[in-house]
Amino acid sequence: MTVALFLILTIAGALAATAAAAFQAPPSIFGGGLALAFIGLAGAAGATASAMRAPDDLTEPRTARGPTSPPPLPDDGRVTRPAFGGMWLAAIGAFALLGLVPLISLARKPGRASRTGWGAGVRLVDENNAPIPHDRLVAGAIETVFPQGATDLPEAPAVLIRGDDGGYRAFSKVCTHAGCPVALYRHASHQLICPCHQSIFDVQDGARNISGPAPRPLPGLPLDVDAEGYLVARGDFDAPVGPDDWDRVS
Ligand code: FES
Repeated sequence: MTVALFLILTIAGALAATAAAAFQAPPSIFGGGLALAFIGLAGAAGATASAMRAPDDLTEPRTARGPTSPPPLPDDGRVTRPAFGGMWLAAIGAFALLGLVPLISLARKPGRASRTGWGAGVRLVDENNAPIPHDRLVAGAIETVFPQGATDLPEAPAVLIRGDDGGYRAFSKVCTHAGCPVALYRHASHQLICPCHQSIFDVQDGARNISGPAPRPLPGLPLDVDAEGYLVARGDFDAPVGPDDWDRVS
């Protein structure tokens, strides 16, 4: 019976770890399931070995017929031999499922939306988490904004700019060269400037990179105004945020 309990622990732990990986549960749940599976397997193996060990004073009466050795498998209480074998197979099968975990990770495409926090209808907020009303900025002013409820995501910050025509534009604040914050705005020429290596982006041309080492424009954030007069995003950034090699890291 002890072996059976350990095998059940192994199966439950392995299944829990596989499910945790499949549903992106916290790593602690995956690790806990894995630990249970290994503890269960080690316990089952130890209990089996202990049960199969013959006592030192074992004597076997001579008989003219019939088996001359005790059964090789432990007498495990109420667990029958076929059930015992089946439980071992189930435990090994559950462990084999864990082999799918790397494949699950490989098949999962890193989701940009969850990394930026922006999406349709998400309000723009300032650093104090206050929504931005549509008349907040004067022409030529800029402000760093974040998606409401996700201000701490590293790819979330955007630069909000009010143009001379009264319209708003917003672009990722993360430079496409090496990821520095694009913090400077030259109103006269409508240029955003990255202070790290002096890349310059033309705000009136979709934040196109016109000078410096940045390899591509700053991703744009489509904007709208909601029914209450606050600025909202119409979706996520229109391109991957930051340096190109960031997207190859999940
Ligand atoms: S990080 Fe912006 S120009 Fe290098």
